[in-house]
Amino acid sequence: MTDAVQTPHPGLAGSPFLAAARGERPSHTPVWYMRQAGRSLPEYLKVREGIGMLESCMDADLVTEITLQPVRRYGVDAAIFFSDIVLPLKAVGVDLDIKPGVGPVVASPVRTLADVQAIPDLTPEHVPYISQAVRQLVAELGATPLIGFAGAPFTVASYLVEGGPSKEHARTKAMMFGAPDVWDALMRKIAGVAAAYLRIQVEAGASAVQLFDSWAGALTPADYRASVMPHSARVLAAAGELGVPRIHFGVGTSNLLGPMGEAGADVVGVDWRTPMELAVPLVGDRVVQGNLDPTLVFAPTEVMTARAAEIIDAGRAAKGHIFNLGHGVIPSTDPGQLTALTEFVHAHQPPH
Ligand code: CP3
Repeated sequence: MTDAVQTPHPGLAGSPFLAAARGERPSHTPVWYMRQAGRSLPEYLKVREGIGMLESCMDADLVTEITLQPVRRYGVDAAIFFSDIVLPLKAVGVDLDIKPGVGPVVASPVRTLADVQAIPDLTPEHVPYISQAVRQLVAELGATPLIGFAGAPFTVASYLVEGGPSKEHARTKAMMFGAPDVWDALMRKIAGVAAAYLRIQVEAGASAVQLFDSWAGALTPADYRASVMPHSARVLAAAGELGVPRIHFGVGTSNLLGPMGEAGADVVGVDWRTPMELAVPLVGDRVVQGNLDPTLVFAPTEVMTARAAEIIDAGRAAKGHIFNLGHGVIPSTDPGQLTALTEFVHAHQPPH
């Protein structure tokens, strides 16, 4: 019974988020925020007191509570599962931690074929708390969809190869350019882990998935197409077999929006550097997601909402538009601004 695929809540049929993701026209522009769970909310900081990030991700009740917090507070159109892109690697036994203010740190960076082969494939038995948290969440969320997610092969490879956060991704790209056999094995391994991780979340009840390739913007289009896209495409194809909409997001990707869509996305996430009116033709017959500069929450509310209006109006030229920030919520964000922004997006009607 616990492994049974969940029956979707009947209210999900009317979800504006899912309608937009399918390219239909919902009654209002749906909105959610990357990194809405965690970071700035006082109720988040309270429940996380004294508990490490990865420890939190492995506690189904805590994951459920943290995922629900922004839905309760902001009335956003979707929940994003509280976890991290490196959690599945931790779960299969890779020695890593998430250091506050730093990010993921890997004890023994992956450099050789033997290092790659030592990473086990992910099975549901590695992550029982994930299936449990998703099941609890979909029961609580009712008509609000839950977005599951995974890290894309390039972005996760960067943490594994560098051993931690990196600006240049130099060792990662050195492997890509100089040791294609090791690179191919590593990308296949991570793609397999990501596909399995998404499957576990969708089978437990997640209604959509987002593949985060946050650092793909470090690549030229030719290198992306040759050495990264086929692996991301495998993850997206596996998610497509599950019948849920797939969002594909990266930062600094104005030159990659076309290929990121072609990799098999229904929705292409756009960061704030690319004006929405330029992004729309680049993604072609796909839905766009984004893309308010996350620092605009520090401007006066009416300055922030005027920019949001421009984005929504530009988004109407696309097959569909899901409003979001152009990257994650900045930890010092005033939650009141995101409440105001959510209300504004819901109320903003097409110009006549
Ligand atoms: O609300 C949500 O978006 C859900 C939760 C979520 C987290 N990480 C929680 C988290 C999601 C979707 C992620 C994805 C993730 N993790 C990405 C892709 C998205 C992106 O932002 O580009 C990346 C690159 C990571 C890796 C990672 N984990 C980084 C760079 C950091 C930041 C380090 C820091 O503190 O500045 C983390 C840590 C992390 N992931 C925190 C949270 C809430 C902070 C944890 C803490 O401070 O204890």
